[in-house]
Amino acid sequence: MDLISEEARELFKAQAHVWNHMFNFINSMSLNCAIQLDIPDVINKHGKPMTLSDLVHALSINKAKGPCIYRLMRILVHSGFFQISQLDENKNNVVEEGYVLTPSSRLLLKDEPLSIRPLFKTELHPLLITPWHSLSQWFTNKDATSFETAHGKMIWDRAGDDPNFCNIFDSGMASDTYFVSNVITKECRGVFEKINTLVDVGGGTGTLAMAIADAFPHLICTVFDLPHVVANLEDRQNLTFVGGNMFEAIPCADAVLFKWILHCWSDEECLTILSRCKESIPSKEKGGKVIIIDIVVDGKKGDHTSIQTQLLFDMLMMVNTRGKERTRKEWEELFKAAGYRDYKITPILGLRSLIEVFP
Ligand SMILES: C[S@@+](CC[C@H](N)C(=O)[O-])C[C@H]1O[C@@H](n2cnc3c(N)ncnc32)[C@H](O)[C@@H]1O
Repeated sequence: MDLISEEARELFKAQAHVWNHMFNFINSMSLNCAIQLDIPDVINKHGKPMTLSDLVHALSINKAKGPCIYRLMRILVHSGFFQISQLDENKNNVVEEGYVLTPSSRLLLKDEPLSIRPLFKTELHPLLITPWHSLSQWFTNKDATSFETAHGKMIWDRAGDDPNFCNIFDSGMASDTYFVSNVITKECRGVFEKINTLVDVGGGTGTLAMAIADAFPHLICTVFDLPHVVANLEDRQNLTFVGGNMFEAIPCADAVLFKWILHCWSDEECLTILSRCKESIPSKEKGGKVIIIDIVVDGKKGDHTSIQTQLLFDMLMMVNTRGKERTRKEWEELFKAAGYRDYKITPILGLRSLIEVFP
């Protein structure tokens, strides 16, 4: 016989739902703490399942807090960042258990080539967390972003004033870009083979352009970003850094690349940027195109988790920038309004797509 009524069961389910949302931040913060303590690297360096006592011994912490490492690891095992594995039998015939990495925590190692640890550190930086506390206030004021409500200026201006934050931000972006550039240069060769010049607008410190310039040595590449971002970067053989403002003019090229740029800006601002692009590229017949790497939101296709991730990104854009994540229809309307004739979406980058837009 049921101990509680259906009504009570529903009520407890609703309560658990609220509790989980109330505490979702604990997942991010616990993982952030593990990264700050170098736990993934320490376990990786150990080379075999690492017992709790070995882990506590290896960490630079107050050893009296060792039992709390068990609690931190317990939630991170539960959320799939570590696993428990058995060690070989020891000399007392006891089989001990230890922590091992999972594919997700491998992506958070310091020296892993595809590490997105810098992106994680960027997104959990206090400067990017604070605006979430201003979100409801932002809904009642005239500021363009909650970031401005919290910090008094746009994120790009704040980064310009604070070299330390600028470095953290640029490294975060670069780590994501490294991840993406691997796929782009191998799986999307046709996108670059027929063009001779390319400008990566908002290309940061040049990670993507460098990968493209190396993979396609015939291409002359330019990284175009705000002057403070490219100020101390050195040109390479087929790669030049140029400082400027994409709302004013974009250097001429066969193709203009935007990775994680247009989702940072409103439709009106994107129209201005895409119009500047049209002034910089030749006709479609002569190889002219715009290449965009961004999310194409699809609320119907995809599993619950990937839709959730796309919606989280959309909220992130709303809070920290003036932009949004766009559906296929919204992208199409934007391209049409900016006077482009055709476009092609290739969903090759996990939750993001490569979009080619033709004048
Ligand atoms: C989200 S980051 C993306 C960086 C890079 N494309 C990537 O994905 O790694 C946005 C970039 O746009 C640059 N940016 C912002 N406003 C700009 C402007 N008006 N003109 C040129 N670049 C700009 C920022 O400095 C930053 O590097």
